[in-house]
Amino acid sequence: MPTALYGKDILHVKDLKLEQVSLILETAGRYESVLAQGGSLTNMTGQVLATLFFEPSTQTRLTFETAMLKMGGHVVSVTDAKTSNLDVKGEKLYDTGRMISAYASLAVIRHRAEGSAQELAEGASVPVVNGGDGAGQHPTQALMDVFTIKKERGRLNNLTITLVGDLKNGRTVHSLSWLLGKYGPRFYFVSPPELKMPAEITASLLEDGIEVFETADISEAAAKSDVLYMTRVQKERFADIEEYERLKDAYVVNAGFIRKCKHGITIMHPLPRLGEIAREVDAYEGAAYFRQTANGLPVRMAVIALLTGRE
Ligand code: NCD
Repeated sequence: MPTALYGKDILHVKDLKLEQVSLILETAGRYESVLAQGGSLTNMTGQVLATLFFEPSTQTRLTFETAMLKMGGHVVSVTDAKTSNLDVKGEKLYDTGRMISAYASLAVIRHRAEGSAQELAEGASVPVVNGGDGAGQHPTQALMDVFTIKKERGRLNNLTITLVGDLKNGRTVHSLSWLLGKYGPRFYFVSPPELKMPAEITASLLEDGIEVFETADISEAAAKSDVLYMTRVQKERFADIEEYERLKDAYVVNAGFIRKCKHGITIMHPLPRLGEIAREVDAYEGAAYFRQTANGLPVRMAVIALLTGRE
């Protein structure tokens, strides 16, 4: 049955109303139970998902494609990074959008240029999902992150959440802070001064009455937070490689650090991790990053099914 998401694009988390987010989380929960019980789904039978990944991806592309296959659908994909020379300022992505609409039921795109998903969507008559546009947005990552926080913490409101690392270039933290902002959190944004959260995002949260503390010092935030969301410094966005080298290990979570955090703190990371979380932390029960990546599957199943009206 068509729903509040049928036929829509998801380009920016701001495109989603709270009830639409709730619908995605509920639907994902339902699919998760079906999969956990060994059941199968056929709701996407005969449908085609196009995945256009012009920037590297492991998790996002594989979970989207697996999500489609688990519901009985098919996948066509472009993964040739060389085609990332595609000129988004010209007609090309618009034309790609028109073209794929002739055979695909929906498309997911990842591209190094901000606004690329928007351009594809302008040409496409089928739903388009932004799978990461440069340092812009990554809305389905934020949805799986929120789904994870709800499962790990039992609620979404009244939480203290710390985002750590490359808050300037990290699209996951851009999307996540907009989305979590809907639930009235208390935020710590921890980064070196060079990698601060874009002022536009912080200002908008403050305007909505959200408490935001920006700092370069992780200790107070870690002692007070329910969730610590680590991110990697985004090497591919740096013009100056020496600056990257200087900043890349600014924050490292290891077993000794966990002992100084609030008891029971949940540690998250969108992956891939580099040096930000030592492998010894994986044994800590609050280390949720591999559960977080697994949650990508039911959440992306829900997104695919809801946008195409086949949930
Ligand atoms: C993230 C991304 O691509 O933005 N990865 C992902 O989709 N899980 C995070 C990153 O690359 O650092």
